[in-house]
Amino acid sequence: METPLHKKRWGNGDPLHEIISGLPRQRLIVNSVALRADYLPSSLPHRWDHIRRVGQVLAPCLGNGRPSNVLIYGKTGTGKTAVVKHVLERFSAEAVRRGLRSQFTYVNCRIAGTEYRVLSELCSSLGVRVPFTGLSKAEVFSRLRSSLQGLGSLMVACLDEVDVLVKGFGDDVLYELTRSNDASSPAQISLIGISNDLTFKEQLDPRVLSSLGEEEIVFHPYTAPELVDILRERAEMALRKDAIRSDIINLCAALAAAEHGDARRALDLLRVAAEVAEREGADAVEVKHVRAAQGLIERGRIHEALSSLPIHSRVVLLSAFSMAKKKEALTSGVLYTTYRSLCGRVGLEPLTDRRVSTLVSELDMLGVLSCDLVSFGRHGRTRRIRLSIGLEEIGAVLEGDDLLAPIVKEMASNHT
Ligand SMILES: Nc1ncnc2c1ncn2[C@@H]1O[C@H](COP(=O)(O)OP(=O)(O)O)[C@@H](O)[C@H]1O
Ligand SMILES: [Mg+2]
Repeated sequence: METPLHKKRWGNGDPLHEIISGLPRQRLIVNSVALRADYLPSSLPHRWDHIRRVGQVLAPCLGNGRPSNVLIYGKTGTGKTAVVKHVLERFSAEAVRRGLRSQFTYVNCRIAGTEYRVLSELCSSLGVRVPFTGLSKAEVFSRLRSSLQGLGSLMVACLDEVDVLVKGFGDDVLYELTRSNDASSPAQISLIGISNDLTFKEQLDPRVLSSLGEEEIVFHPYTAPELVDILRERAEMALRKDAIRSDIINLCAALAAAEHGDARRALDLLRVAAEVAEREGADAVEVKHVRAAQGLIERGRIHEALSSLPIHSRVVLLSAFSMAKKKEALTSGVLYTTYRSLCGRVGLEPLTDRRVSTLVSELDMLGVLSCDLVSFGRHGRTRRIRLSIGLEEIGAVLEGDDLLAPIVKEMASNHT
């Protein structure tokens, strides 16, 4: 039998060898969009029950009733946003087909940022322009109501990551939105509130809770086998056919499941691993690429958390950093003294001991510092504080701060 063409040997001095081998191979990632977190796949494995539940709640909007409000919660990456967007898309297409006036709106409260912006996005989905700033909340609210009245239509509004809004501004807007329905008019609002925070309900006024939580749906974390199915579908869309083996998909799923069953995390791992493999010019994604992706993601996460710290927390961190550089033991007392002197150097008014102590606890929760109470005999107890992440990483972030950079650089030159 003849040797297949791709196995044929062309002999020494093949004049085409250099030209052909110098050409880049076919890319590993053929459709990077399908690996992005905001990509909405048309099928959502292991969420059919949830899709059905949300669909049942919203069903009256395709007749002539007002759907109950619904509160959806579950940890990040459990498919809440994907499920609700999927149902909204389907219902809004069906409403158009039936010639209904129902409006379907999705607002992400974390991205909108303020109550005003949330309300103005609701308005603009009805075609009402609201200036960027300047109106009172009550005015925006009344424009929303009157345009809804004018249209005589029902509005199904999803407020995603509504816990962030409530944490920042309280639940006034929710209160207004939930109690504004006039049963005699077709112009009504149904709310879908989504929260990543499981304790969110405790932050709501009982009246808001009883109205927003007319229905409740909980999204549980994905198991490793469920994540495997999700990843497999996305990998098929995104990667070249033979670019990934099932054991690599299993690894990504297992790592994400061990964390908290977060599909976003699993997809991030897959995407970053594929990017690393592609950059290396590898033929397929291997275990080492997944390990590298883990490191990159972890560093990205810390960097993000640190970069958004308020200035006083940064100075606290710088104080801990400077003591660690000098290899000196750090207690809360020493930390506070160092903090005060650093505040003096950069011209900041120092906060009180107690406030700083709260900031230290926050940094502890972020996983940047770790504190434990130690006893000093009759001198009582104090907190011993240690850095939980590498000096270099902290240094790099602090150097990105214009105000603190000169001090960080000086410390680096003194102690190396
Ligand atoms: N069942 C599923 N099937 C396919 N992809 C999913 C599924 N659940 C979540 N995803 C994907 O995982 C990522 C995170 O999901 P998302 O809905 O944003 O989670 P949440 O809103 O709960 O934080 C998105 O890219 C989404 O497309
Ligand atoms: Mg979400």
